[in-house]
Amino acid sequence: MTGVVIIEEIPCENGDGVIAKVTINRPDKLNSLNQEVMNSLKEMCSWADSNDSVRCIIITGAQPNPPQEGKRAKPNAFVAGADITEFVGKNSDDIREMFSDNVWEAIWNLTKPTIAMVDGFALGGGCEVACSCDIRIASTRAVFGTPEIKLGLIPGGGGTQRLVNLVGLGKTMEMVYSGENIFADEALRIGLANHVVEPEDLEGFTLNIAQSIAGKSLHTLRIAKQTIRGALENGMSKGVAIEAEAFANLFDTEDKDIGVQAFLARESPVWKHK
Ligand code: COA
Repeated sequence: MTGVVIIEEIPCENGDGVIAKVTINRPDKLNSLNQEVMNSLKEMCSWADSNDSVRCIIITGAQPNPPQEGKRAKPNAFVAGADITEFVGKNSDDIREMFSDNVWEAIWNLTKPTIAMVDGFALGGGCEVACSCDIRIASTRAVFGTPEIKLGLIPGGGGTQRLVNLVGLGKTMEMVYSGENIFADEALRIGLANHVVEPEDLEGFTLNIAQSIAGKSLHTLRIAKQTIRGALENGMSKGVAIEAEAFANLFDTEDKDIGVQAFLARESPVWKHK
């Protein structure tokens, strides 16, 4: 593998479009997010959102390299946070600039479905990358956490807000105040992980979900994502009204006709994605 962010285009099973598998490739530093990785991820987001063939995006971390002779093996990581070495000597103005237009918002604002495939440490900014995705699939050795408090910091990539939506106020408070790790079984129990599977099954399991999503109309998926996200911004009655409007508008799309006709004819739909 070369490059700090690797993109593989995996063909969709229905022959229409690709799943973009995005691997953060800095395993010797536990895939931590330095400026180069963050810039590459932001470029990936622009590419994935504007490339019509991309139906779904999987974000993951590279597996550890074999250990050098006499050295211990590095642990598995999704992303072990922002690169802490880049915090040295920075003041608030520097950080405002570094974190404006940031990678977590770029991932969050992708209009297509996103899946975090988490095998190992997802700490700090890594936990925030996972929380910026729509779905989190973890291996049994996944470890989530917000250890920033141990550095005299708090999450800065949207973690406090997105965690509240996923796991609730009390659990977020506990995670952020203590900085303690959340292991896979607890992540599943509190809703931080959608699924937990054995490490050897992680890729296949994740791809199955991605293929299921990728086989749907991209236009309808985008409307679904936007409508579900509306639940975070609007109260119940406004959110329900937005959903009703989105639902009605879909009746003017080609893909609604294609989907309904295919069901009635007992055929597979061939989407126009509009
Ligand atoms: N930033 C920069 N480098 C990091 C890093 C980070 N967030 N996380 C890990 N690394 C580097 C280590 O410095 C080490 O580099 P080296 O081998 O050149 O010395 C390498 O990755 C392996 O990490 P190491 O700490 O040796 O592994 P470990 O198995 O002993 O511990 C962790 C694993 C995840 C517990 C530990 O690396 C850690 O606590 N990382 C920081 C997590 C964090 O606070 N993230 C939030 C940042 S805001």
